[in-house]
Amino acid sequence: MKLPDLAAMEDFGARIAACLRPGDVVALSGGLGTGKTTLARAILRSLGHDGEVPSPTFTIIESYDHLDPPVAHADFYRLEDPAEVEQLGLDDYRDGAVLIAEWPDHAGGFAHEPGCLQITLEIAQEGRLAVVTPGKDWLERLP
Ligand SMILES: Nc1ncnc2c1ncn2[C@@H]1O[C@H](COP(=O)(O)OP(=O)(O)OP(=O)(O)O)[C@@H](O)[C@H]1O
Ligand SMILES: [Mg+2]
Repeated sequence: MKLPDLAAMEDFGARIAACLRPGDVVALSGGLGTGKTTLARAILRSLGHDGEVPSPTFTIIESYDHLDPPVAHADFYRLEDPAEVEQLGLDDYRDGAVLIAEWPDHAGGFAHEPGCLQITLEIAQEGRLAVVTPGKDWLERLP
């Protein structure tokens, strides 16, 4: 799908946010600067978060527990081994929450989970392109 500008990212983020349930994963793939954090911010804003959304490149996981559903926003870029996710306590962060994951492959990937919405972003002539692959649980939710 075409995401020609930042307004399109906000819109797309809002549509995703409206369907989210605890336990879901929004897996954001794509190279450096393709808009993963931009889309994560759009989702968080649409859920009602009106503060800062720091890029979690250094903290790896940021929690947004005040939202409904609660969200854990992770950037796994710096993980060298998927086994490290256990030390991060990812399971605790995910308990009852939605996980928005940048660089999901660095954490072993989430595509096998039925609640995973996979989105791969790439730079296009006009803005960005997104390839969206919904997990089994997402199919019934699509309008
Ligand atoms: N659809 C779009 N059209 C035009 N510019 C965009 C679009 N989406 C994001 N951008 C711009 O692309 C730049 C990089 O975005 P962002 O930081 O979200 O990328 P990222 O994938 O998270 O990068 P990184 O891999 O470094 O974390 C930002 O300046 C952002 O404003
Ligand atoms: Mg980013």
